[in-house]
Amino acid sequence: MRMTVIGTGYVGTVHAACMADIGHEVLGIDIDAARIAMLAAGRAPIRETGLDTLLARAVASGRLHFTTSMDEGAAFARTHFLCVGTPQRHDSEAADLRYVDAVVDSLAPRLQPGSLLVGKSTVPVGTAARIGAGLTETAPDSDVAWNPEFLREGSAVADTMRPDRLVVGVGSAEAEETLRTVYAPMIRAGVPFFSTDLATAELVKVASNSFLATKISFINAMSEVCAAVNADATVLARAMGADSRIGERFLEPGLGFGGSCFPKDIRAFAARAEELGAGPAVGFLHEVDRINTRQRLRTVAFARHLLGDSLTDRRVAVFGAAFKPGSDDVRDSPALAVATALDQQGADVRIHDPQALDNARAAFPDLAYVPTVPDACENAELVLHLTAWPEYRQIDPAALALVVREPLLLDARNSLDEAVWQRAGWAIHGLGRPQTHRHGSTTADSSDRPVLVAGGAS
Ligand code: UDX
Repeated sequence: MRMTVIGTGYVGTVHAACMADIGHEVLGIDIDAARIAMLAAGRAPIRETGLDTLLARAVASGRLHFTTSMDEGAAFARTHFLCVGTPQRHDSEAADLRYVDAVVDSLAPRLQPGSLLVGKSTVPVGTAARIGAGLTETAPDSDVAWNPEFLREGSAVADTMRPDRLVVGVGSAEAEETLRTVYAPMIRAGVPFFSTDLATAELVKVASNSFLATKISFINAMSEVCAAVNADATVLARAMGADSRIGERFLEPGLGFGGSCFPKDIRAFAARAEELGAGPAVGFLHEVDRINTRQRLRTVAFARHLLGDSLTDRRVAVFGAAFKPGSDDVRDSPALAVATALDQQGADVRIHDPQALDNARAAFPDLAYVPTVPDACENAELVLHLTAWPEYRQIDPAALALVVREPLLLDARNSLDEAVWQRAGWAIHGLGRPQTHRHGSTTADSSDRPVLVAGGAS
């Protein structure tokens, strides 16, 4: 099939390369000429597992091309995937639809009769219907469908090629048929295919992200309670997760979520629900957001406490800058939020990350970044583990103990091997983990530890 993919950001680049790989003729479109030139040369503008190979192969096959011309795009195909960003508005928590609307305004008058516009962007429910109503004026022979993506950064190619499910919101049998043809190899491989109305499809995306964010904040709320009674949130999570109705994934107590999706999606969903008069139904999402923010405050307060309540000129090593392991993305990174707060309170912070240092430096140029773990740890009085890269689990704690001034570790992701670090002489602390039974712990007593109250850290 011939198709265009409009917007060559994260979603669009991956979608375009994957669609070409499964045999379609794809034209990627973007207003950013430099990005288009890079893509046309077969080079990926983002770092994503498997994408370089896939893109180079697709471009070499002659099935994937790129352009900045909407005229060319409209003439090339009748199926157009809309993959532009929907960031948070500057003046509210709602989604900013200016990029979506700009593409529709530009494309609609150029569409060939019988065209289908397929939205992949995450939008407030009702957007697809609004676009459809607009098309009846500007392109009466055209149709709109919504086909949300669920890809995770770091496994975006695999998530596109072998998704857990396909969801299409359609208003006609023809639109469904087109999308069944697009995804024929996945459907043949047994991927569940949900065909529904436009609004339900839009909602599947935001409801799924809201559910996952809620699951993370739920266990982090439990972790706060655990801290108050010296219970172990990691064991609690594993024991809860062993119930197959609950499941252990996204139930890891720690510093919480960040990135370009969860925070903005739950806020935009709550804002949209309010517009629709359904605000109270998702009022809990504000609490999910607050719990998540509190984990950052809690980590900063705990770090300050471990350093005897004074951060001025204290050397702190930070492991991780990316918002999650396997990604170089630092958007709304919990790790950088903590590092920034410590820096602002006078600490001498040195940040390491296996992949995200360039992006971190661009976003927070005033923080200090170092290329290796020993560089970060030199003379450190406290080490903070903030992004759970697998590399940090390979560290030899005995060797690192010789580099730091104080073998004191706060594992805010609760994912390092506590026994191994303790055997090497480290005092190791976690979020929501008991302190009193630990060997060599510098925290005298759990009652000593900072307790958080709603809205802030003590
Ligand atoms: C997410 C959704 O998973 C994806 O379906 C959607 O399309 C976009 O948003 P992504 O932002 O790439 O994808 O990240 P994901 O792997 O889902 O992790 C989100 C955040 O939650 C990360 O910051 C991660 O560190 C955090 N997280 C995850 C936790 O804090 N605890 C957990 O138990 C799991």
